[in-house]
Amino acid sequence: MSAPLNTTAAIVLAAGQGTRMRSRLPKVLHPLAGRPLIHHVLDALRDAGIERQVVVVGHGADAVEAAIAGRAIAVLQEPQRGTADAVRVALPSVASAKTLVVTMGDVPLQTAELYAMLLREHTTGDAVLTLVSAQLADPTGYGRILRGDDRTVSAIVEERDTDTDTRDIGEVNAGIYAFNLAWLREAIDRITPSDLGELYLTDVVSLAVNDGHRVSVLEAEDPDDAMGINDRVALAAAEERMRRRIAEAHMRNGVTIVDPATTRIDAGVEIGQDARIEPWTILEGATAIASDAIIGPNTHVRDSRIGPRTRVWSSVVEESTVAEDVWIGPFAHLRPGADIGARCRIGNFAEVKRSRLGAGTQQHHFSYLGDAEIGESVNIGAGSVTANFDGAAKHRTEIGNGAKIGVDTMMVAPVTIGENAVTGAGAVVTRDVAPGKTVVGMPARPIELRRSKPPVDAGSPSASTAPVPSGADRNS
Ligand code: UD1
Ligand code: CA
Repeated sequence: MSAPLNTTAAIVLAAGQGTRMRSRLPKVLHPLAGRPLIHHVLDALRDAGIERQVVVVGHGADAVEAAIAGRAIAVLQEPQRGTADAVRVALPSVASAKTLVVTMGDVPLQTAELYAMLLREHTTGDAVLTLVSAQLADPTGYGRILRGDDRTVSAIVEERDTDTDTRDIGEVNAGIYAFNLAWLREAIDRITPSDLGELYLTDVVSLAVNDGHRVSVLEAEDPDDAMGINDRVALAAAEERMRRRIAEAHMRNGVTIVDPATTRIDAGVEIGQDARIEPWTILEGATAIASDAIIGPNTHVRDSRIGPRTRVWSSVVEESTVAEDVWIGPFAHLRPGADIGARCRIGNFAEVKRSRLGAGTQQHHFSYLGDAEIGESVNIGAGSVTANFDGAAKHRTEIGNGAKIGVDTMMVAPVTIGENAVTGAGAVVTRDVAPGKTVVGMPARPIELRRSKPPVDAGSPSASTAPVPSGADRNS
């Protein structure tokens, strides 16, 4: 039986300066797989059912507190006098708990499963203190676990206190503990400062042993769980491990990831069954990819939803929604607020911003649609542009179902082009176009008016009365 979760609380230490990061950003706010380090820790605790979470903040307190707002309680440690001092400061906030989990905000690969095992070990071991250890090929920088002849733990030796005997010990302290809270309350005040004036939480181990209590150890199955981020080299290494875990989870769920080494998927991205992620693809933020979609190669999707069977190739998609059976790319850019209907085709060098495209609409070749409402089965000719900005404000363009926008049409917003209307090549549309009408020229006028107009100068070939070619259906 594990400790009942409603009597289990967690303290997360996140007040330290993180000097070795050499950063103005507090260490626990550095992103890993798209989320601050501290969020990974809080998520793992939550997924393990430990709802009461207290975060000790200090360095960059305001920023850290803002980042955890609504998820955990922040307690200020000022000044920061070491990990035991940090726990002491937070103890009044976990008053009702029986079992206390203490963990580090800079150990982001810890998992909910690890906590479940820790609590199980803690309860069955009947210890006042259970800690997580890991076997590392290179233990440098971590506290080393000292064990007696009978393998029981006697102490933790911090890196700077190691000697030739202890330096090579490969079993390290992960910084993740379960405590009998009543014992810890009493013991923590007995910790004495190190020669640098710091209070080490790790000293609780020898205190417990001297008290004649049992200290249990859970050895992490995956040593990555214990990885602490002290500098940016470790951050990059953790990123790589985290990415691999994320990719493996998707693959086990039925997603094909052709080349995990060149694919970056943020924590929290959802991907449906039989979707296929091609190499050199980045999926970020609150992104959801539906079943059977094919994303990549060379594609960057952020905070977007991509529908079933849709294909996005060598393109950038930000804060957009794409329905089913759409083709995007290569080299398209969906900017925030693009809403692309089913079966659309968005082609080479096409850009869409804050616009809805109805089902079956096609936008190929070098064009820009911004602040526009486009109907179904519309054809946007090559080089066509919504001139949505008049230097002061943005204006909207509306295009009705079935309209054909000829190549190189300028739509000077605000303007409405009716259903099944046609614009000629190079038309500059400054006034609304009635449904079914064809307009041509600059400024665009109904083609019959142009045709009936007498020649300006019959002798000049440049002022011909020949109809301007519509061009609308030359480009598909
Ligand atoms: C600590 C452990 C070490 C363990 C390692 C695991 C101690 C003394 N050492 O070392 O045994 O192997 O973690 O990663 O506990 N913090 C505060 N207030 C403070 C000092 C630190 O909140 O006054 C926070 C830091 O923000 C950080 C965490 O505690 O999130 C650990 O501090 P850090 O200085 O990184 O300790 P390590 O040297 O890594
Ligand atoms: Ca650390």
